[in-house]
Amino acid sequence: MNETIETIHKHRSIRKFKDTAITEEQLDAILSSAQQASTSSYMMAYSIIGVTDEKKKAQLAEITGQNYVKDNGHLLVFCADLHRHTLNATPEQYEQMTPNLENSEHFLVSAIDAALAAQNAAIAAESMGLGMCYIGSVRNQLDRVDEILSLPKHVIPLFGMVLGVPDAQPDQKPRLPKQAIYFENEYRDHKETLNEFDESIAAYYQSRKTNTRHDSWTDQMLRRFTNPMRMDVTGIIKNKGFNKQ
Ligand SMILES: Cc1cc2nc3c(=O)[nH]c(=O)nc-3n(C[C@H](O)[C@H](O)[C@H](O)COP(=O)(O)O)c2cc1C
Repeated sequence: MNETIETIHKHRSIRKFKDTAITEEQLDAILSSAQQASTSSYMMAYSIIGVTDEKKKAQLAEITGQNYVKDNGHLLVFCADLHRHTLNATPEQYEQMTPNLENSEHFLVSAIDAALAAQNAAIAAESMGLGMCYIGSVRNQLDRVDEILSLPKHVIPLFGMVLGVPDAQPDQKPRLPKQAIYFENEYRDHKETLNEFDESIAAYYQSRKTNTRHDSWTDQMLRRFTNPMRMDVTGIIKNKGFNKQ
């Protein structure tokens, strides 16, 4: 294994940080790594908002219900961004662009671009010994986050990322076995593999250092998908001019 793969394999989400801000140099390395990710058709259809205002951080912590959104070395919010692509358009051109701006294709493009940039940022941070955790719970109140960050039309927050010097070293969470995520030439049924994974994950939940519980992966997923979740997100995304047609 080389150092890059070792860094990737050591990943675990960090939710407790020392009371130290990350350095300007670390932030620059993280952001330039994010920027170097591949991007669909050179569109670079994302923006990153660094939140340094303590009041805004507290508001976002309240929205997410997660204190580490306030207590960290730095907070980033990754946004899908098709706004800058409209800036040089005449009103006639903007009208012509609208079907593309509003379709699912460009919603996916911008979300994928943001995610690729984010994961490059995560690996860069972890390679420097920093910890990180993604924060999807900014979507608990997407419209409030949108307002707090003053995002224009065609820009939506997708997820946050907390960064900092780790103050905890949680157990690593096991992943699905390769047979459940990699198939050659065609999709394959892998129910049996999932059942085996459930057994090993049940043992993991009972033996880990913190938050031990009786659970399995498939039970977790059934709970997740049988409870309506963030049902307002669809409407908010459409209101911002994404994924409308
Ligand atoms: C897009 C995305 C959103 C996430 N949102 C949250 C979140 O709001 N709060 C949180 O504590 N963890 C969040 N996570 C972290 C996951 O819970 C975590 O990656 C997963 O449980 C696997 O654990 P690990 O990262 O420690 O391996 C998020 C992860 C991703 C990829």
